[in-house]
Amino acid sequence: MTVGSAGSVTPSILMRSTSDQSMPSAKCFRLEHRVAFVTGGGAGLGEATARRLAEEGASVAIVDIDRTAAEKVAADIPRCVALEVDVTDPAAVEAAFATTLSEFGSVDIIFNNAGIAGEQQPLHEYDLDNWHSVNALNGAGMFYVLKFGISAMLESGGGSIINTSSTAALTAQQNISAYSFSKAGVTGLTRSAAIEYAGQGIRVNAIAPTAILTPLVEAFIESSDDPEAFRAERENWNPIPGWPLPENVASVVAFLASDDAKWITGHTLPIDGGYVVR
Ligand SMILES: NC(=O)c1ccc[n+]([C@@H]2O[C@H](COP(=O)([O-])OP(=O)(O)OC[C@H]3O[C@@H](n4cnc5c(N)ncnc54)[C@H](O)[C@@H]3O)[C@@H](O)[C@H]2O)c1
Repeated sequence: MTVGSAGSVTPSILMRSTSDQSMPSAKCFRLEHRVAFVTGGGAGLGEATARRLAEEGASVAIVDIDRTAAEKVAADIPRCVALEVDVTDPAAVEAAFATTLSEFGSVDIIFNNAGIAGEQQPLHEYDLDNWHSVNALNGAGMFYVLKFGISAMLESGGGSIINTSSTAALTAQQNISAYSFSKAGVTGLTRSAAIEYAGQGIRVNAIAPTAILTPLVEAFIESSDDPEAFRAERENWNPIPGWPLPENVASVVAFLASDDAKWITGHTLPIDGGYVVR
């Protein structure tokens, strides 16, 4: 079903599921009557979180540059729209919030999550295009979603924003300069936004996941010099052994989105099996 307005910057609603049958049984209903805006919702952490927020009762706007991926996830979720949006385009982000508001009436939860890792290169050989593309999404894109998302939330009475940072913001990691820089910026932006809007009913937190097997990390592993060695090393990367699942991130985002976290704002919460405190 297409109900969005056409135009160069206005994303169209690509699909709305009318069936509840594919929904897994709900864990609880903390997010009933809330509307969630999930960037990067077509795959990985965004997909798992979109599904979890819906399980807890939220209506969901799945916002992704990949139209097919967004539609595929939306097909399983009731009260869901898929929006094809490149979040590095501020006009498209603004239009996506306008569409979400007109479709659902409010924006109560934002999972500001779309991001890329970029190529792995030593700092002195770091390719400038690599630097700019990572920061365009992980930095400026993150800011655009906050800017237009906070405007939408102020219209609809407040809410909870969760930005995706990384353990790369909290610890030193090699050969990912742009990623480390951008994710540390996410943590700073989270703190300042939290303080600016705490009095207006908007909480802003970030999550800092360790490596989780998603399409992003699969590509990152394959681009390393020795993918098999990389994979084996990461099995024991965190004090809790093994790999966390995207669902383990989704449950934390659902908590931060809910009123159970009503006194938590401005923090970057590691989801890391103890990695940053070792
Ligand atoms: N997977 C991990 O181990 C891990 C760890 C720490 C932080 N993160 C962060 O989590 C976030 C999600 O990572 P993931 O592993 O799920 O990635 P992923 O590549 O599996 O999924 C990202 C999604 O974002 C979409 N996307 C990419 N560019 C976009 C754009 N310009 N506009 C809109 N959508 C866009 C992609 O189409 C994809 O559907 C990223 O910010 C990443 O840096 C991931």
